[in-house]
Amino acid sequence: MIQRRNLLTAAALLAAPAVVRAQGNYPNRPITMQVPFAAGGPTDVMARILAQELSAVLGQPVPVENIGGAGGILGTQRTARAAPDGYTIGLGHMGTHAANPSFYKQLPYDPVESFTPLGLFAINPMVLATSPGAGKSLAELREWVRRNEGQLTLATAGTGSVSYLGALLFDRAINAKATLVPYRGAGPALQDTMNGVTRAIVDQAVTVIPQAKGGSLNALTVTVGERLPQLPDVPTSAEAGLPSFDIAVWNAAFVPRGTREAIAQTLTQAINTVLERPTVKSRFGDMAIQIPPPERRGPEPLRALMSREIPRWKQLTSEAGVTPE
Ligand code: MLT
Repeated sequence: MIQRRNLLTAAALLAAPAVVRAQGNYPNRPITMQVPFAAGGPTDVMARILAQELSAVLGQPVPVENIGGAGGILGTQRTARAAPDGYTIGLGHMGTHAANPSFYKQLPYDPVESFTPLGLFAINPMVLATSPGAGKSLAELREWVRRNEGQLTLATAGTGSVSYLGALLFDRAINAKATLVPYRGAGPALQDTMNGVTRAIVDQAVTVIPQAKGGSLNALTVTVGERLPQLPDVPTSAEAGLPSFDIAVWNAAFVPRGTREAIAQTLTQAINTVLERPTVKSRFGDMAIQIPPPERRGPEPLRALMSREIPRWKQLTSEAGVTPE
């Protein structure tokens, strides 16, 4: 009888909608969400949506803290060194947690050893965009580069950031010998491209879409296999004749290594709950942010992804002739 009741309880739990079960009295104070880039960039935009929804799910404020600089290293290091008590979540991506070891000999954190992964929360296409007076097509930009050898400036969020990875791929694809100009995040990098200080940028679609729609940037190509419904007239890189300029960005959440497993599970579950909310689906969808399917979220798929991505970036960067600083 007892056994049958246990089975019924287990079945009821499995059938219940995803709810976040509190661990003891956790959380009982605000949880800081650290963004290793300046405000106004893609990570910040996504963080603010996630933080608002997580706060509703966890019943505590979730303030966002921006720690920009050094291609995301400063903020990521801050998360790695935070107390592993479940009150600091760090957001990272393909740059901070996979490519950076290829760029820096002395990275002050280990993407695998310094963190407990919570899960993947977004995959984003990138867009090549120019400042308003700088040409409306890839062909025009290439012609300009041909006439102004070595003069192209590409704004980035610093060495190892994803806008840097995008710029590097683009520069190599057209052999522009461009200058990659670092900022504390894609937010200020976009701003200077809109103002014509830098000529072009390769950034995640999240932040390029509104500027391109408003005419503050010219979107030239989309770096994935299909056009985006938000920018239907913008060709894919392959359509524009540059198939090797192909890159999609994954974004993920972490806590410092040493965080209790039950607390990390509570946070993973809370993030999954948030990603299923219609408001998040529609706000992310409007910005071409793809939410990974449930089987690709969570700590295990993220660990597996990182174990493939770290060597992939080592190979790509060494083929591109990058030597770690
Ligand atoms: C940001 O939020 O500023 C970006 O994700 C930075 C980057 O390009 O990696």
